[in-house]
Amino acid sequence: MDENIVWHNYATTKAQRSEQKKHKPAILWFTGFSGSGKSTVANALEAALNQQGTHTYLLDGDNVRHGLCKDLGFSDEDRIENIRRVGETAKLMTDAGLLVLTAFISPFRAERDMVRNLVDEGEFIEVFIDTPLDVCESRDPKGLYKKVRAGEIKHFTGIDSSYEVPNNPEIILDTSKNTLDQSVTQLITYLKQKHII
Ligand code: ADX
Repeated sequence: MDENIVWHNYATTKAQRSEQKKHKPAILWFTGFSGSGKSTVANALEAALNQQGTHTYLLDGDNVRHGLCKDLGFSDEDRIENIRRVGETAKLMTDAGLLVLTAFISPFRAERDMVRNLVDEGEFIEVFIDTPLDVCESRDPKGLYKKVRAGEIKHFTGIDSSYEVPNNPEIILDTSKNTLDQSVTQLITYLKQKHII
């Protein structure tokens, strides 16, 4: 960073923005394989939260890669930069007082922990969608696993690109064992227990 860039303190604080919203800011960070159900659960949770008046925003890998991260591919280096940008964006959104949901494979522990360390204690909630790879492949919602097996896509997570399982996620969900409603209820219960909503 340039030494001539200074930090401005804002007259309005994170606490004031949060107070106005009547709930706490946080990041619900969904991680797991492609096809594991991250976007589906995050979407359903966001809808449920909105119904009860929580101020949310959902950052989703496929959508962010159309804009903010459209210059990035799927090399390890690009995935790291993808998560860095998304993490910084999510941090800004928590500063704005929002409950942020993110749905990215985010395959590496170091970057997930980096985002955890960007925000205050308790604000980063790691949600590991622990759906087995064979279930994700059989679902193949975007037809990508088929292309991978045909040799048309390289560096695909779980096949020829690695995924590091979270060591201590706050929440573990297996969408092959639970219904969507059960997953949403589990997440809402957690948020209430922690007095976030
Ligand atoms: S991440 O690894 O950088 O976190 P991200 O969540 O943004 O990935 O994007 C993953 C989505 O991109 C997948 O759900 C899938 O639709 C698509 N995709 C395309 N190519 C790949 C690939 N090689 N590996 C994983 N996902 C891919």
